[in-house]
Parts: sequence; structure tokens; C-alpha cells
Amino acid sequence: MKVLSGAIVGLGGFARIIAAAIRESRRVSLIAGCDIVPERLNEFRKEAGMERLYDSIDKLLADPEIDFVIIATLPAQHYDMGRLALEAGKHVFFEKPGALMPQQLAKLIELAESKGLKTSIDFVMRRNPLYLILKEICSLNIFGLLERAALENYAHDDSLPPEHWFWDYEKSGGIWVEHGVHFFDLVNWLMGMPKRGNGDKIPRGNGLIDRVLGTAYHDKGAVISYYHGFTKPEAFEKTLFSFVFERAYANIEGWIPISLSIDAMVTAEIEKLLMADLLMKARSFLPGVDLSLETKLLNEWDGEKTFKGRGKSYGATARAEFTYRLSCDRWEVYRACVRQGIEDLAAAITAEKESPDVTLYDAKKALDVACMMEGR
Ligand SMILES: NC(=O)c1ccc[n+]([C@@H]2O[C@H](COP(=O)([O-])OP(=O)(O)OC[C@H]3O[C@@H](n4cnc5c(N)ncnc54)[C@H](O)[C@@H]3O)[C@@H](O)[C@H]2O)c1
Repeated sequence: MKVLSGAIVGLGGFARIIAAAIRESRRVSLIAGCDIVPERLNEFRKEAGMERLYDSIDKLLADPEIDFVIIATLPAQHYDMGRLALEAGKHVFFEKPGALMPQQLAKLIELAESKGLKTSIDFVMRRNPLYLILKEICSLNIFGLLERAALENYAHDDSLPPEHWFWDYEKSGGIWVEHGVHFFDLVNWLMGMPKRGNGDKIPRGNGLIDRVLGTAYHDKGAVISYYHGFTKPEAFEKTLFSFVFERAYANIEGWIPISLSIDAMVTAEIEKLLMADLLMKARSFLPGVDLSLETKLLNEWDGEKTFKGRGKSYGATARAEFTYRLSCDRWEVYRACVRQGIEDLAAAITAEKESPDVTLYDAKKALDVACMMEGR
């Protein structure tokens, strides 16, 4: 297997996680990086043992040994840097959001396709085995229609002083664009794009917008709420994403989730799906990350009983709780998800597959939903 050579543009906080993730890869290696801040270059030289460090993207792109470029600069720079990299003939892995406007992503897609280059974006939750279980539940329609989902994302801001670029709309695009796209992409993957949506911003006293609340309306009546608040210390952050199906409540915990519990009305056939088929599939989804399952019987009926909800009838033999837990801590899971995304792009570059699992079309759709929330 050919080992592809990658380079990171922007050697800041997240570049460290990317570098640590790639260090454990056998199909990609990181050979170069660039930043405009000299200390960042020195830190990377020491910490990652990297020698080819450039002080501009132009110099980095002129390096003929680099196969693909990872763009990990500020969101407002992604589009211009993506163009430069594609024009220089490099495949590109984008940090999210990939651009501040959907039209820019459309142009990047066009450029990449015209040059026969591969691109992907770092929507890490797509790699998480727990979200794969939810995806299967939606695709196989195991618990009927999804009527409701609610995200409660209490994120940390202790590393985000008021002068940080995160708070500057011109540089980050705001919370919906910089951060919300992860969750919009996830829901688009699970159930398609919303028909409409709207959002509100709740500013802090000093004018910073640190909380946003939005609602998206999907086909067949599903209503999804999104709340993001950047108000907590890192040690006290919490994320809950709950999904309500006709015959199940599924709760997923953690921004990088490590547990999923499903409280459901089941038959023997559904129990087998959850305890064998889906568990097996999820266990082989993210290399290096295993899964365990605990079950608890909440109620049991003699034979199959008929229940009614929303005018529909269905049969169930029991109500039971299924709790799936990942075998690693969230940082290991985080790195594994980043690594898997980059290796998936590598598989597309080496023509083992036509296109990566996560594409710039997905990035554009996620940004389209962020724009709905922004009211533009
Ligand atoms: N996928 C994820 O889970 C995840 C998590 C965190 C951050 N991110 C994304 O990663 C990106 C970077 O975030 P961060 O927290 O590392 O930010 P950061 O501010 O720590 O790092 C950005 C780096 O880019 C450098 N830079 C600025 N202009 C440059 C230029 N012209 N050429 C080269 N380098 C330049 C800065 O000097 C800095 O070192 C953002 O897009 C963010 O949304 C993704």
C-alpha cells in the first residue's frame, strides 16, 4: 500500500490533534507544515519532529513531494487556501467548515472535479460507531419515524478569550457556521436536509454571541432543536443529543460521544438486530475502537402485545434499554475519527474507492443549514 505524504497548513491547536492522529497511521504520513507565526513552526519542529516547515502556503504548495494538504487555518481562510492548494494540484482535506459560504464550496467542488482531485472534510462524528448505529436505525426504519431530536451542547469557552477569532463573525462565521455544521451534517446524513429552519442568537453582555438556539423542520414532520452555548469550563462541558422515534428514545452523550442508550419497545427480531447485527457492524466501523453493550429489561409482556400511538398499532414483547459504550476515552476516539477521515481521503486518492465517505457536497449542505439558521 502506497503511503501518501500530507502537509498541514495552520499549525495551531487542532493541528496538534491531527498530527497525533496521523502519527498512528500506516497509510498516510505527515511530512510538512506551514504557519505564519514563527513560534508555531518551532513548536512543531520540537513536538512533532517535523523538519519541512514553511512560513507561507505558497512555499509549502511548491513542495512536489506533498500529495495532499490539510487546511487547518481559520474558517475565513479555508476557501482561498483550498483554491490555492487545488490549483497547485494537491488533494485537500478541509477542517470544517471548509468555507464561510455555500457558494464558495460549490466553486471548490467544481475546481476539484475539473482537476480530478479528491477532497474531504473533517466531520468527525460521521466516523463514530455510535452514530453508525443511529444511522442504521434510521435507514432500516427499525423504530418507525423519527419525530423529534434535540441537541443540548454546553461547550467550553475557557480557552476562548474575547479577542479570540472564534467570536469574530468575519473570521469564524459565528457558532452556526464554525461549530453547528458538525451537527447539521450529522442530521443531514441520518435523515436528509430540512425543508426550513430558523435560529436565534443570544449575546453575552459584552456583545459576544455565545449562545444560539435553532429549529429545523424535516420531511414527515420531524422537528429538530439545536442549542449551543459556549459558557462552561472544559472540565464541566456536556453534550446530549436525544432522538425520539415512534418506538424508541435514543440518547447519545458527549460532543465526541462515548455512550448511546436506547429505551425501546422491541420484538425478538429487533432485539437480535440491536444485540448482534448492529453491534457487530459498529464494532468494526472505527479501527482501534471497540464497543460493549449492556441490556436491561424494563418491562415484559406475555407474548406479543399490541400497542397504539398516533393512531398506529404495533406489536412488542418487551420494553428494554440497550446501552452501547465505546472502549476508549474520548481523546482516543477523537484521534481515531480524524485519522479515519484522512485515511478515507487517501483511499479515494489511490483509487481504492471512487470518492471519500464525506464530501464537499456534504459540507455545502451543512453550510446551507447554517445559513437557514442565520436567516440568510
Ligand atoms: N474537526 C474538529 O473537530 C475541529 C476541532 C477544533 C477546530 N477545528 C477547526 O480547525 C481549524 C483551526 O482551529 P484551531 O483551533 O486550531 O485554531 P488556531 O487559531 O489554534 O490555529 C490556526 C493556525 O493557523 C495559522 N495561520 C493563520 N493564518 C495563516 C496563514 N496565512 N498561513 C498559515 N497559517 C496561518 C495561525 O497562526 C494558527 O497557528 C478551524 O477551522 C476549526 O474550526 C476542527
